[in-house]
Amino acid sequence: MGLSGGIACYKSAELCRLLIKAGATVQVVMTQAAEQFMTPVTMQALSQRPVYGSQWDTRAANNMVHINLSRDADAVVIAPASADLIAKLAQGQADDLLSLMCLARPADRVPLLIAPAMNREMWQHPATRRNVAQVQLDGARVLGVGHGDQACGETGDGRMLESLELLDELIAFFQPKVLSGQHVLVTAGPTYEAIDPVRGITNLSSGKMGFAIARAAREAGAMVTLVAGPVSLPTPRGVNRINVKSALDMLAAVTGQADKASVFIATSAVADWRPANASASKIKKDGSGQPPELHFVENPDILATLAQSERGRSQSLYCVGFAAESHDLLANAQVKRQRKGVPLLVGNIGPDAFGQDDNALLLVDETGTREMSRDTKLSLARQLIAEIAQRLGAGASA
Ligand code: CTP
Repeated sequence: MGLSGGIACYKSAELCRLLIKAGATVQVVMTQAAEQFMTPVTMQALSQRPVYGSQWDTRAANNMVHINLSRDADAVVIAPASADLIAKLAQGQADDLLSLMCLARPADRVPLLIAPAMNREMWQHPATRRNVAQVQLDGARVLGVGHGDQACGETGDGRMLESLELLDELIAFFQPKVLSGQHVLVTAGPTYEAIDPVRGITNLSSGKMGFAIARAAREAGAMVTLVAGPVSLPTPRGVNRINVKSALDMLAAVTGQADKASVFIATSAVADWRPANASASKIKKDGSGQPPELHFVENPDILATLAQSERGRSQSLYCVGFAAESHDLLANAQVKRQRKGVPLLVGNIGPDAFGQDDNALLLVDETGTREMSRDTKLSLARQLIAEIAQRLGAGASA
């Protein structure tokens, strides 16, 4: 992890901590300018390793710290990457340890990721544009930048991404790109069926499984559109989110996106019924003590609609259903797979899954079943994406 000079160094301390917590080994290298913003002592305490700042560091027996450090790394991440550091990288300059180490690293097996951080004018300057384009051409991956208020008081592009966003970007970078070239459409969360302007019926789906699948598909290199019922979860990075409320809204959003999609994964707990006539005004008590009589009509089956469309039947739109059951998971899932007409159906026990951070899945297809034992929803989502990629014949092309 390299730090060059910029006020965003304050986020690097948190990023270092997050990386360590996520299980990484972090070796910090700082430029002299970075040391104006953050002390090596802080970074040493967080990374629990000595920090390096000079190419002349005599702690290395061979006095080749730039070689030693870069050979052990799985990746070099520069956060923040200042305009000056990026200019050096673009030109192959190597007059400080960080730029020297980047030049000396074995580029074919140690990827370079940079998180730029600078004032918006610096970011927009033609020299920076050229330099960023050049380092990308040379194989570096640029993470960000963010938009918003800057330490200088101006507002615009050039902020370094937040530490959590950088962590997610890094984790995504290491996932195998088994869905690159695919466009995945995902539904998630409950739907909300209005009774009147202030009341409605819904269910306990939290949306977590669908959001995890959207994230995992994105990490696997797919373009992802997430049609989400009313949940307040953050949108996974790089995912295009469309918010909907009712099953009818969800159907409209999904059919509007389906032409572009090559995979459809229906995780949403769509309400099976909606009130037949939602009242335009709040239903009041009439004093009789009698509750109002509600009549329901069945909602369209979004998954079955897509699975039985021409593209669904030919599997040029590969449809994956979920089944939330309370009992007899295997039998119910098998029947549901046939009824919906999908090649792959994923069963789970609704009460054990709704709102939880973990889950267990049972995959059912024409060849048989596969159990995925209890794990975090993100881990299960990644396994499911790998299974889908295998079935698409996309193969692993990390
Ligand atoms: N589904 C859908 N549209 C609906 C109902 C369900 O797209 N109107 C999708 C869900 O997103 C899920 C699958 O169909 O992928 C199965 O949902 P589930 O609620 O388990 O089944 P139902 O079809 O509602 O059947 P049942 O009520 O008999 O269990």
